[in-house]
Amino acid sequence: MPSTVVILGTGGTIAGTATNPSDNVGYTAAQRGVADLVAAVPALQGQALETEQVAQLDSKDMDHATWQRLAQRAAHHLARPEVCGVVVTHGTDTMEETAWFLQRVLGPDKPLVLTGAMRPATALQTDGPQNILDAITVAREPAACGVVVVFAGQVHAAQDVRKLHTYRLDAFGSGDAGPIARVEEGRLRRHRTWPVGSGLGLARIAFEPASWPRVEVVTSHAGASGRLVDALVADGVDGLVVAATGNGSLHQALELALRRAATAGIPVMRCTRCASGALIGAFDAAMPAAASLSPWAARVELMLSLLAGG
Ligand code: SIN
Repeated sequence: MPSTVVILGTGGTIAGTATNPSDNVGYTAAQRGVADLVAAVPALQGQALETEQVAQLDSKDMDHATWQRLAQRAAHHLARPEVCGVVVTHGTDTMEETAWFLQRVLGPDKPLVLTGAMRPATALQTDGPQNILDAITVAREPAACGVVVVFAGQVHAAQDVRKLHTYRLDAFGSGDAGPIARVEEGRLRRHRTWPVGSGLGLARIAFEPASWPRVEVVTSHAGASGRLVDALVADGVDGLVVAATGNGSLHQALELALRRAATAGIPVMRCTRCASGALIGAFDAAMPAAASLSPWAARVELMLSLLAGG
């Protein structure tokens, strides 16, 4: 039975420090190493764990080179027979994007668990240690597979998870789907079937980028124009995601510019700017719908599909 869990550190608030322990917002992210974060959880002592620092950044600054390195290191460890799962400590601000990226390029059969914290490591009410403990519980779960986010006692699938709150400790949700499970006192209480490996109804995408396509997100809103889209096309953008209003509707001026872009050969993907719900109904092939993906996950999707030559 594989029993080792590898914890890959990438930074974030979970590794952040503040000079004043009661200051929950005035801190610097990505200061402590992942080995220190794990050592700070007494319940983990004696467990078969390894740590590796892959990056040390505030996840607002996440970049494609770091994603590539993270995917390579996660794939390396997941392929080791003695490893039952991998945990990634990550900033909360772009965690959902990294989760979708890793799901689409790795689609692992073993659990690949992202976690983080809404309070720095030095805070009076730091949530990082409990989140790490819960993430490792999920990484050891024999039935678990694929990329999930474990946060505030909930397990979210990569395809559903979104950061929903700026400040609360339970900042993540899964919208209509709800969490897969909850972690309570080191035990998993499952609410629905575990999404299967690379499954999620999608094929895994081959991932060997020579260079990353440039895909930008534009938003439909009151007073929108087509000027931003026209400027992006003139600037050589490779693909566009539009965060549409409601069930995929677009301001007419923006829509005209997006149609011009599509006619010029720039792929355009449509998703909703609503916090939850999927695009329902038929949409024309010039601007296909990204189902329930968030604009940020749809951006990853389009970028990977361009990389795969799609
Ligand atoms: C970050 O995303 O790296 C900083 C914010 C956070 O982790 O909550």
